[in-house]
Amino acid sequence: MQNYLIKNSDIMKIINYLSKLDLVQDSPDTNSNSNKEAFFWVFGLLTQRKLLFMGIIAGIMIHQPLRFIIPVLIGKLLDSGVEEKNEEAVKFYALIILITALVSAFFDLVMSWLNEIAANDVELNTRSIYFKSIQGKSMSFHDESKLGELMAIAQQDIRSLYSALAPGIRILGEAIVTMVAYTVIIFMQSWLIGIIFLIMIPFWFQSIKKYNEGLNPLAVNQQNYFRSLSSHVQENFTGSAVVRAFSQEQKEIELFKTKNNTYTKSWEERGKITAMYYPMLVSYFIMGILFLCSAYLVINPNIIIGDLEIKQDFGLEQFTVMIVLIIQFRSPTFIVRNVLEFWSLGLAGVKKIQSIITEAEEDVMGDNLLKPDIIGKIVFNDVDFKYDNSDNYVLKNISFHANPGDIIAIVGPTGSGKSTLLKLLTRLYDPTSGSIKVDEIDILQISPEHLRKSIAVVEQDIFLFSSTIRDNITYAVDSYSEDDLIRVSELAKVTEFVDQLADGYDTMIGERGVRLSGGQRQRIAMARALLVNPKILLLDDSTSAVDAKTEDEIVSAIHELMKGRTSFIITNRLNMIKKANHVLVFDKGKLDAVGNHSELLTQNKIYRRIFDPHMELPKQEEDQ
Ligand SMILES: Nc1ncnc2c1ncn2[C@@H]1O[C@H](COP(=O)(O)OP(=O)(O)OP(=O)(O)O)[C@@H](O)[C@H]1O
Ligand SMILES: [Mg+2]
Repeated sequence: MQNYLIKNSDIMKIINYLSKLDLVQDSPDTNSNSNKEAFFWVFGLLTQRKLLFMGIIAGIMIHQPLRFIIPVLIGKLLDSGVEEKNEEAVKFYALIILITALVSAFFDLVMSWLNEIAANDVELNTRSIYFKSIQGKSMSFHDESKLGELMAIAQQDIRSLYSALAPGIRILGEAIVTMVAYTVIIFMQSWLIGIIFLIMIPFWFQSIKKYNEGLNPLAVNQQNYFRSLSSHVQENFTGSAVVRAFSQEQKEIELFKTKNNTYTKSWEERGKITAMYYPMLVSYFIMGILFLCSAYLVINPNIIIGDLEIKQDFGLEQFTVMIVLIIQFRSPTFIVRNVLEFWSLGLAGVKKIQSIITEAEEDVMGDNLLKPDIIGKIVFNDVDFKYDNSDNYVLKNISFHANPGDIIAIVGPTGSGKSTLLKLLTRLYDPTSGSIKVDEIDILQISPEHLRKSIAVVEQDIFLFSSTIRDNITYAVDSYSEDDLIRVSELAKVTEFVDQLADGYDTMIGERGVRLSGGQRQRIAMARALLVNPKILLLDDSTSAVDAKTEDEIVSAIHELMKGRTSFIITNRLNMIKKANHVLVFDKGKLDAVGNHSELLTQNKIYRRIFDPHMELPKQEEDQ
């Protein structure tokens, strides 16, 4: 699979080169990427497996012309066989027609098979590129994206690309070869009809182009409607407990109906456009003209225009061939409709995928960055931060330091920026200004992957995978011993409830750990972090769902474990705060005070409001 993956830079080179040739018509839709770029991106992926691609082209080049030789052979059979009453000629041409049809069918079969393989390959590669790209995106990208939409792209849009290619490549090739063969064979019967045919062809193309312009924007909308529908479904299913608890099922069903109807209506609209496929009218007009010309020529092979006499060798044989060709002209027109049908959806999907994968990715590995042995001295120097999607600063002028081995407790009202501070430490986001140093090195200079491997986090919104307890605890390590697992489980008080379970560590915990209590989930997340054996430990309200006694035991254990390392603990629990070397008090994104519990209790208004609302500060401090 790896071999077939095409790099974005290669694709861009191909696009730059090919787009100069101006081969693909752009549609007037609002999507930022053009149809041209989308088309050549797919082309780049297709030609990754050169042999396969050439096999398909060869199949089309052999199968299609053979199909067109058949009317010529029928003409010969009628002319030299039936009309001349020559039994030998009839037998000969009948045999040749049979062989030609069989060979054509064989190549058709092989080509269709290769086409399937190629389309599957492109689908597989696109999905891999997409998944890898999403994995590498910044947190800001994920903040802005809706999960349901990202899922819809991975499924529907990538699938529509497959449908565009199989049988899209085949029918596109057929359409091209058919038109060339068609023109050549008409010229072989009569150059005069050939010229008339060529004059009419631009009108045919124009009608197809117009039709396509109506279809493309609709395809883009359809994909958008589907993503919106899918996002709604995903949110609903994930939040089913909330929907139920607030008895909002009916409202949700109505909302779903609206979105579902919009999507279905877009298909009806599409059906209307494809039903009124006016290029077909143009093709009937062309067929009519060709028939009239052929009928006229077979009666008057010599045409006199003024002084000019045009002689045409146009007898029964040529007339028969023309009739078969005229009947067949419906076929390329239908083929083109199918191609456009599939390609409009496929290209709309590709444009969306492209717009995502070309968005900058985080350089997680940071190969050119430093990978120092991290001890755990941390210095924040005048750090400001705001999220990309907002103009308001969430953190302002934050300066403090922590030495290795320090336990830093962080307190503050809700929304004061505590969790954000920890996210800056793991480089999920980077400071808008100011610097954060780990062991005297600016964290922007440290490889994010390396930095993150030295830090373990128990996040505020615990995420567990729908697997076993064992898989969740050992998620972040490559290898572990059973003793390690039991040690961290004891520290985080996981053993307490695992021992009660019939399957122990191998108990499945349901999606996101739904079969566990909040406190159990927190303890598993804690064990997962401790197994990493981190240099820096970040706990974001990680014992809020644990009872006070258990919490006390966990905190003491962490205290022991983290000796010589650095821990940041966001908490409102006094027994945790009392173990901290320093307490940082946050208020509205600012560091309001730094101190220990007793200092802050007597000196800081915010701190006292949280921990002892009844205690008064001396008058002059209240006024500060
Ligand atoms: N991904 C985000 N995008 C935009 N704004 C955000 C994002 N995450 C948080 N915020 C905003 O940043 C501010 C600080 O949020 P943060 O989560 O750091 O607060 P907190 O102190 O941890 O609060 P709590 O005690 O409730 O957990 C809030 O006003 C919040 O609305
Ligand atoms: Mg928080």
